Amino acid sequence: MVITIDGPAGSGKSTAARNLARALGIAYLDTGATYRAVTLKALREGVDLEDADALADAAGRARIHLSPEPAATRVWLDGEDVSETIRSEAVSEKSYYPARSPQVREVLVALQRRIGAELGSFVAEGRDQGTVVFPDADVKFYLVADASERAKRRCAELRARGESCNEQKVRTAIERRDRRDRTRDVAPLIKPDGAIEVDTTDRDVAAMDAALLAHVRERLDKDAGGGPAP
Ligand code: C5P
Repeated sequence: MVITIDGPAGSGKSTAARNLARALGIAYLDTGATYRAVTLKALREGVDLEDADALADAAGRARIHLSPEPAATRVWLDGEDVSETIRSEAVSEKSYYPARSPQVREVLVALQRRIGAELGSFVAEGRDQGTVVFPDADVKFYLVADASERAKRRCAELRARGESCNEQKVRTAIERRDRRDRTRDVAPLIKPDGAIEVDTTDRDVAAMDAALLAHVRERLDKDAGGGPAP
């Protein structure tokens, strides 16, 4: 079974994808981590982020490994565990450079499909999973939430890691990232055809998880040719 979850930063994708994967007993594929890992590699190597060829070269050389366990996701870059480092605001902010490069996307889409083929059944989250990477997914979700709520969530995450956070600044950064993700020429963030849209603004995690799981069960029942589960 292949399930995709796309949506803007802070819409609840990661939590939803992880919890759904856990509930269904399948793997979790965090594709944002691949863009973050390439961003980190480029920053560390002093690559000119405006130089598309140099970025593509860095992406081609990056050895990225993701653990598929929804409960304990780790990310390795060239053999080093960078799970925390790639979540910094510096990496978030600069991830737009690799994400807008068609050559980098080609490398990372191939990597994501290779991982998907190895996993077989998984929940993939990102910006282009239902549109470009896994267009034949069994169930596609598109998560949305108000920008102020998304900023609040991002700040809560940062504070939990001991970092300080200004909600207004984070909101501005989130809106800038949204704009870039939605307006880029290649694989822009849009609602995939056939995706189920879920607004998570007023839903807590339990309500969001329940909504997604109910949609998946409904789809599975339909595919099995039966009516809704008793
Ligand atoms: O989801 P996350 O915030 O970790 O993604 C980091 C960045 O990577 C996003 O802002 C986006 O620009 C890019 N991305 C993408 N396509 C994906 C996943 C992430 O362009 N499938």
